[in-house]
Amino acid sequence: MQHFTSVHDVTNPLGLVQKALSIKKNPFALKALGANKTLGLLFFNSSLRTRMSSQKAATNLGMDVIVMNVTQDSWQIEMEDGVVMDGGTAEHIREAAAVMGQYCDILGVRSFPSLTDREADYNERIINAFKHHSGTPIVSLESATLHPLQSLADLITIAEYKKADKPKVVLTWAPHIKALPQAVSNSFAQWVNKTDYDFTIVQPEGFELKEEFTRGANIAYDQKEAFNGADFIYVKNWSSYNDYGKVGTAKDWLINQEKLAVTNQAKVMHCLPVRRNVVIADDVLDSQSSIVIPQAGNRVYSAQAVFQTLLETHG
Ligand code: CP
Repeated sequence: MQHFTSVHDVTNPLGLVQKALSIKKNPFALKALGANKTLGLLFFNSSLRTRMSSQKAATNLGMDVIVMNVTQDSWQIEMEDGVVMDGGTAEHIREAAAVMGQYCDILGVRSFPSLTDREADYNERIINAFKHHSGTPIVSLESATLHPLQSLADLITIAEYKKADKPKVVLTWAPHIKALPQAVSNSFAQWVNKTDYDFTIVQPEGFELKEEFTRGANIAYDQKEAFNGADFIYVKNWSSYNDYGKVGTAKDWLINQEKLAVTNQAKVMHCLPVRRNVVIADDVLDSQSSIVIPQAGNRVYSAQAVFQTLLETHG
């Protein structure tokens, strides 16, 4: 594995899930592997889970960690090539990424989309710039369009909780008050499409994800029908891809216990953070149906499996 920025970077995604499950049984076994190696974690945006789980995963592997909140702690970075830098930006990504690559053996980068310029967002300018200029393996900590560390944790969680070989998994859109990226949902679709699970994505008209990511899934518009017999309900809001960045507030898509009645006692998942009673009701989050906390716990083993694989590949 050269980088970890999408499922396509992984030769055997389901093998990586099994590797993470094995690491979870004995997380400190390879404490020597990361000795004298440094992980850099660069955040252009806020984080709780990704930041803490990545630090913990690296510590479990014996790595040193440098964390930087780029927009607060560093110089303003210029992303455009060929510009006269006489404005607010003081350092170009070409130098910034290359210098960080001198200090770090693996670099993790979190960079959300603008949600105003679809072409720029879907070209993944920032994560690709780090790939091109840092000279070191890059791990996506959630890019403009994908969140593979989250998706790997999601598949680990499904593997732990599934009762059937081929569970019915439903990714459902839910309402929100502001425009959120499509990244978690695009990525979840990419990874679940690598399994043989029965996979449905349900959303209101106008909130379809980009087909590149969803191809292989059943696409539905009736939430109740989609939930019928489901083993897992993965809840997530995303803003519109087609009417780029449009917010969806349809309150009748809120997930509550009443909606779970038609499922096969489905386990409810969400990447967190979640706005209670906007996206998912208290009566679900505080019930046995919810597995959002163990799901977040698995972020450690997802990150650890990825860092371990990169250390094994790159020495
Ligand atoms: N799920 C997730 O990535 O959480 P954070 O944004 O808190 O890192």
